[in-house]
Amino acid sequence: MMSGDSEVIIKVREVNKYFFTSSGVLEVLKNVNLEVRRKSFLTFLGPSGCGKSTLLSMISGLVKPSDGEIYIENIKVEGPRPDKIAMVFQDPVLLPWRTVIGNVEFGLEIRGIPKKERRDIAQKYIDLVGLSKFEDYYPTQLSGGMRQRVAIARALAVEPEILLMDEPFANLDEQSRLLLGMDLIRIWEKTGKTIVFVTHSIQEAALLSTEIALFTRRPGTIKELIRVDMRHPRSIEEENVVKLRKYIWDKLREEIIR
Ligand SMILES: Nc1ncnc2c1ncn2[C@@H]1O[C@H](COP(=O)(O)OP(=O)(O)O)[C@@H](O)[C@H]1O
Ligand SMILES: [Mg+2]
Repeated sequence: MMSGDSEVIIKVREVNKYFFTSSGVLEVLKNVNLEVRRKSFLTFLGPSGCGKSTLLSMISGLVKPSDGEIYIENIKVEGPRPDKIAMVFQDPVLLPWRTVIGNVEFGLEIRGIPKKERRDIAQKYIDLVGLSKFEDYYPTQLSGGMRQRVAIARALAVEPEILLMDEPFANLDEQSRLLLGMDLIRIWEKTGKTIVFVTHSIQEAALLSTEIALFTRRPGTIKELIRVDMRHPRSIEEENVVKLRKYIWDKLREEIIR
C-alpha cells in the first residue's frame, strides 16, 4: 500500500499513567489508545487535570508511561526525539538577550548548522509565521501573540515531523487567539506537519481540528474520537461549527465535576 495521509504516525497503545505522590498513588490516565494519522490536526479536549499534558509529555518522550507503549513511526518511544518532534507551550520561554531571529536560530545553532544556512532557514519560518520585519526585535518588544509566533517559528525551524502544542494560545486575548489559530491552520496546511494540540477551548477545537479526542475526567481516557470533516478556514458562526460545539459540550459537561 502507498503511504498516504491516512498513515499512522503516532500510536498510543494501552497506556496507563500513575504518579506516586506523598498522599498516595494518583491514577492520571487509564487505557489510553490512540492512532494519530500523518498530517492530521488532532486536538485533546477534556476537563482540567484529566491528563492531557501528561499524555503529550509521554508522546514527546519526556515522561514514561506506567504501562503500555507509544510509537512514533513504528519505533517505540524511549526518550525525547528532537529529530521528529518539537513542542510549543503556553509560555514561549524565549531567550530575552536574543532577537527574534536569534531565538528562531537557536535550535539550529545547537545542531551545528552553519551560520548562513541557519539564517536562511530562520528567515523562512519567520516569514511563514508573519513576523517579517521584526527579525531584530527583542522578546520584550513584542506582544504575547508575537512571542508565541516566535515560539512556533523556532519549533518549525528544526523541521520536525510532529508539532506538539500544549495550550499554546491560552494566555492570549480572544482576538489574538482567533487570528493565531487561523494562521496556525495556514502554516499546518503549507508545511504538512502532524499537529497534536491541547486546548480547553471548545471553540478552538471546533475551528481547528481534523480530529478531536474527548477525554473523560481523571483518570482520563479517550471517551470519543470525533472526526471533523469540514474544510478550513472555518468561521465561528458557520452552522456546522455551531453544531459541533454543541455536540462537544453535551459530551464534555458530563465529565465536569460539580
Ligand atoms: N510529575 C507529577 N507528579 C505528580 N502528579 C502529577 C505530575 N504531573 C501531573 N500530575 C497530576 O496529574 C494530573 C493530570 O495533570 P495534567 O496532565 O497536567 O492534566 P491536564 O493537562 O489535562 O490539565 C493532575 O492532577 C496533576 O496534578
Ligand atoms: Mg495541561
